[in-house]
Formats: sequence, C-alpha cells, structure tokens
Amino acid sequence: MPLLAVVLAGLAACTGPFPQSTLSPKGDFAQTVDHVFMLTVYLAVGVFILVEGVLLWTIFKFRGKPGDAEPKQIHGSTVVEVIWTIIPAVVLAIVAVPTVQAIFKTAEVPTVSADGKAPLKIEVIGHQWWWEFRYPELGITTANEIHVPLNRTIDLRMKSIDVIHSFWIPQFAGKRDVFPNRETRIWFTPNTTGAFPGACAEFCGEEHGRMDFYLMVDSPDDFASWTTRRQADSTLDNFGFAKPAVVAVPVVPAIPAKAPAAALVADTVAIDPKVAEGQKLVMAKGCIGCHSFNAMHPTKGVIGPNLSGIGTRKMIAGGWLEGSDENLKRWLQHTQEVKPGVGMKIGPVTDAEAAAIIAYLRTKR
Ligand code: CUA
Repeated sequence: MPLLAVVLAGLAACTGPFPQSTLSPKGDFAQTVDHVFMLTVYLAVGVFILVEGVLLWTIFKFRGKPGDAEPKQIHGSTVVEVIWTIIPAVVLAIVAVPTVQAIFKTAEVPTVSADGKAPLKIEVIGHQWWWEFRYPELGITTANEIHVPLNRTIDLRMKSIDVIHSFWIPQFAGKRDVFPNRETRIWFTPNTTGAFPGACAEFCGEEHGRMDFYLMVDSPDDFASWTTRRQADSTLDNFGFAKPAVVAVPVVPAIPAKAPAAALVADTVAIDPKVAEGQKLVMAKGCIGCHSFNAMHPTKGVIGPNLSGIGTRKMIAGGWLEGSDENLKRWLQHTQEVKPGVGMKIGPVTDAEAAAIIAYLRTKR
C-alpha cells in the first residue's frame, strides 16, 4: 500500500501544467533548440531499442543449459568493431549538423522580426534580487514584468549591477549569465500570447530562489496600450505623483503642478481620501526614496524596482508572490520575513496604513 501511494503521488506530479518546461517552446529560439533536443532523443531511443533488443535476444538465445560444453573462446572481431565504431560516428554526424546550425542561428540576432519590424531592444539589469527592464527606444523603465508584442523579435542586452545572475525564460530561450562588467545578449520571437514565468538561474545570494519575473506576451494592440500607459507617466513628476493631484490632495502641497491636466486620467481618483492617505504614506514612509512610480523617470541610481503600473502587476516581491491585496499587505508589514535579506526596509505599518497604501498602489495601472 505505501508503495502504491508513492507511485500515485509520483504520477500525480506528472499531470502539469509545467509553465517552466523547456519542452513546450513558445518562440523561434526555443523551437530551434527543441528540434535539436528531440532529434537527439529519437536517435537515443533508436540506439536504446537496438542495443537492448540485441542484448535480450542474445541472453535468451545463447543462455547456458546444464551439460553444455565450454563456449568457444574468441578474442575480438574486426568486422564487429568496425561496425560499432562507424554507427556511433554516423549518429554523431547526424546530430552535429543541426547542432552547429542552431549554434550559429541562435548566436545572431535577426535584423528583421516576423512582423517585418526591427527587433525590439530591451536592456535587462540583474539586481539582488529583482530584474530591471529598460526599453531605450520607448523611454520606459519597468521591473519584474517584461511586456513584449507578439511576433516581434526581442533583442535583450543584459548586465548585472552587483553579482552574477542568470536570465532564463524556459519556454523562450536558453539561460544566459549576466555579469557586472560585460554585456551578454539573447533574443527570441514569441509566437504565443500569455504570461510566462522566468527565473534567475545562477546562485546569487540568499534570495536567489525568489528572483523571478514574468514575460507578458501581448497582442500588438495590448502592447501599444501598455506602452501608452507607461509613457503617460511622463505627465507625472519625478516622484510619480500626478502634478494636478496637488489640487485634489492638499496633503502634498510641496509638489508643484507643472503638467497639463489632460492625460491624468488614473490620478483623478486621488480624490478618494483613502488613496490620498496612501499617497501621503508612500512619501512619509520613505517608499519614494527607492522606488519610482514613473516609468519615464526612473529613480537615479535605481535602488528598488520601478513601480509604474504596480496596481495591475501579476506578481510582487521579485516576481514570485501573487499581487493580491493580501500579499501586498503581508509584504508591507512583514517584508523581512517574506523575503529575508531583501533591501526593502520599512518601519511598522498598521492595517489601516497598509490598506491606504494598497488603495494608492491600485491607482497605478
Ligand atoms: Cu539572481 Cu540568482
């Protein structure tokens, strides 16, 4: 019975889904690698069946019976040895051709992507323990969630700000180490929309295991809408506060109003007293010392993740905790227990304060 339970538990583990599986590629880079892998698997299965088949056949066909004479003693066979040298050589040659082709293909970033446009450049910066993403052509900075358009080749240029990390989105491309002093690159073209998990794949300190992120593959329209929302942040000041919000929320009179009021749709909700209280707390608790809510004006020196659009992010805390109100509250109140060693240090936060801060964060869409 215990054995049956173990077997059933083992089988239950095989039911999936496995979002981090390299065996279900969702882009050209990963498909190229997958083809080489599957070819190798098929050849290995063929060799296995052949070798084990001959072995079993020999065992039964030539097994000794009582009274058998001493078998004939032989010392090598040139014919057999030539055969078992040539067959593996041929198998290796068959594997080598697509392998070398794949190495050259994946090393070179395509100049035109599937949608006919130039590849989208994204700078990836590894931090202990979160990921920063910059879109130099769009002026956008974000963290822990990369948005990319479907069928557009993504050209990633990667660095680390501290130790060696490794960037990995299993369904799109291989792992690539990121270094403090040298740029590494990887590329892929996503062919399926959705949210796909990625991770840091190189031990980089105590929270290495909580250095995840998500790749959001958007339809071109959704990507344009995300881009527009991020760029609308340029109508905010350097703290990411809406400039006219000063009028609506007199608690922060220190921030001068400069921008035209037109584009500030999201921040008109700052009239909600709870949101206004949250906005005040974000300042009072020192959050804005490390975080920027403005994708177009990242914090100088970048201490903490950019929080533009944090209210709609799937995950928080370095991409591994669902972005629910409950988790945000836990994160605000017990940061060092949830992710020990993380750079974020915030004083005591009451339930009411957490609720107000969360209400404010939810306006960042
Ligand atoms: Cu970064 Cu492991």
